[in-house]
Amino acid sequence: MILVNFKNYKQSFGQGALNLAKICKRVSEKTKVEIVPVVSALDAVQIIKELSMKVYIQHVDDCTERTTTGFISPIQAQEAGVSGSLINHSEHQIKPGTVKSILKNSPKNFESIVCIKSFGQAEKWAKNIKPSMIAYEPSYLIGNKEKSVATEKPEVIEKIVKKYAPIPILVGAGIRSEEDVKVSLKLGAKGILISSAVMTSSDPEKELIKLATAFSV
Ligand code: G3P
Repeated sequence: MILVNFKNYKQSFGQGALNLAKICKRVSEKTKVEIVPVVSALDAVQIIKELSMKVYIQHVDDCTERTTTGFISPIQAQEAGVSGSLINHSEHQIKPGTVKSILKNSPKNFESIVCIKSFGQAEKWAKNIKPSMIAYEPSYLIGNKEKSVATEKPEVIEKIVKKYAPIPILVGAGIRSEEDVKVSLKLGAKGILISSAVMTSSDPEKELIKLATAFSV
């Protein structure tokens, strides 16, 4: 499985998001690897409407249907057709209690991907949580062009996979090569969470095909 985080890259605004989501859909159909775009809540509805595909958003808030203003409601997201959301991405961190509350208050079948930065975090506040998936991303490696979570933290990937089993683990930060994908899968990860290698590529489709192909080799 590949989650492509569109972040707030300008090329992923509006029509850009739609074009990139189309690429995710096409490559997924071609390679048979599940690829889910992780998009801004502002673009999610249009993508779902036009492409009828699975979409995650980058953040949801801890909010109910009552009197809150300007928050992203998991209930509303699900009603709009969004399948799930990242929670606590290291570029959008929230308090541990808030993470737990979001998990508790999210509607049934709304998929939650909780991001953690370290094994220490897994040992402390994230030890008893039961999201749909955990994404392990050491924040200092995000966007790195030479090193990745797979080259620098293989032993932590393995420990996190064991700790949370049977919850599927995704890994991210600096991933850009087939070798990164292969190592991650070999260590027990279910997939990758990726951004810059795809988002800043002059040919995102080619990049995605390269990474998706590594799932079957
Ligand atoms: O959410 C994915 C992201 O934080 C990893 O970013 O650019 O290192 O693939 P990147």
